[in-house]
Amino acid sequence: MLNETGHIPFDTKVKLLKKIQLFSDLHRPSLKKIADLVEETEYQKGHYIFRKGDEGDAVFIIALGSVSVRDGDFILSHLKEGDVFGEYALIDNKARSASILAEEPVRLLRLSHHDFSRLMENNKEILHGLLQVFVNRLRHQDQMEIQLSEKNAQISQQKEILVDLNEEKNHLIAIIAHDLRNPLSSTLSLAELLKSESENFTDDQKICIAGMIRALNRMNEMVKRILDVRSLEEKQGNLNLERTNISGLYQQAFLNFKDKIDKKGLNAVLNLNEVYAVIDKNYLLQVIENLISNAVKFSPENKNIYFNLWANEGKVYIGIKDEGPGISPEDQRKLFMKYQPLSAVPTGGESSTGIGLSIVKKFTEMMNGEVQCESTPGKGAKFIVSFDRA
Ligand SMILES: Nc1ncnc2c1ncn2[C@@H]1O[C@H](COP(=O)(O)OP(=O)(O)OP(=O)(O)O)[C@@H](O)[C@H]1O
Ligand SMILES: [Mg+2]
Repeated sequence: MLNETGHIPFDTKVKLLKKIQLFSDLHRPSLKKIADLVEETEYQKGHYIFRKGDEGDAVFIIALGSVSVRDGDFILSHLKEGDVFGEYALIDNKARSASILAEEPVRLLRLSHHDFSRLMENNKEILHGLLQVFVNRLRHQDQMEIQLSEKNAQISQQKEILVDLNEEKNHLIAIIAHDLRNPLSSTLSLAELLKSESENFTDDQKICIAGMIRALNRMNEMVKRILDVRSLEEKQGNLNLERTNISGLYQQAFLNFKDKIDKKGLNAVLNLNEVYAVIDKNYLLQVIENLISNAVKFSPENKNIYFNLWANEGKVYIGIKDEGPGISPEDQRKLFMKYQPLSAVPTGGESSTGIGLSIVKKFTEMMNGEVQCESTPGKGAKFIVSFDRA
């Protein structure tokens, strides 16, 4: 890098000057004129080249060694051979925004603001080259802005398409569900009729009919759920809020599932305190029933389900905890969306439409409450619905 006299050769200076971004478009004759103005300086390890707040009077290029850029004791970055610092001092004399410390003996090229300004006054080509750099940067920035707004427009268009598609999908599902209802109930009635007249049938035939009725009932259940969501969307806001004893309501919801709980050999652990909140009885009953339905549906046989109701610091909490498969973090992100059956599948042949939790969330929020899920996969799930205490 150094010549026989221990200095930086002129050609190397010209090459290093190209590293200054402002000079990147300048031609060699202009760079050579600037190289004539450049002085070589040396700093020993631990010495400051300049400090934050000093007047910006020159730009530096590192020819040998390395420096650190600092703000107080905090090191912002390290610079090495070929790196440039203090570039804007060529154009203005504003105070330095950081300090520069030699980390080892360094050899620098220094171009002073004063010398460079004088050179510019007499050299239109250099001034023009600099302006060209600025214009290029501005043009680039304009292009980026245009690209950005094009992308934004694309994103909003795609969003609109997706919203429309989603609505269309919901609408289609609702239409299908609605039109399925009649043929389904007739088939179910016919199957029931067949069952009532099955005394002469073989055992296999009887099993087939029972299976058919079970499957048709499940289908019927699903169709009803889908139509429930439709009507819920239409009659939104029709709330009848009143101060209610939640424990009575919880008990009622529990009793509606007592048979299923017993049939699956599940063990119910109830701990219901008498607490009051302002809610709509019908809606809250559906919320609790949906959560109990899930706990029962996804629990393997002989597990515990914990039903809790308590108040704490002005809030009422309704908790349902099971020992089923739990819900993975990925599934938890989709948990309260419509038509989202997730990884856990029913353990007793129940229907799974993936609607229940979207109803839970919608109703709870309509009543100014909140619903949360906590779960460690493999260790069960806990759902908590909370309201202000009344
Ligand atoms: N307690 C739970 N344990 C494990 N997974 C659960 C639990 N509750 C819900 N899930 C998962 O979340 C999915 C969505 O639940 P959601 O109640 O919305 O639908 P569903 O029970 O499948 O059908 P629906 O309630 O409409 O009859 C379920 O399919 C299940 O995979
Ligand atoms: Mg459910």
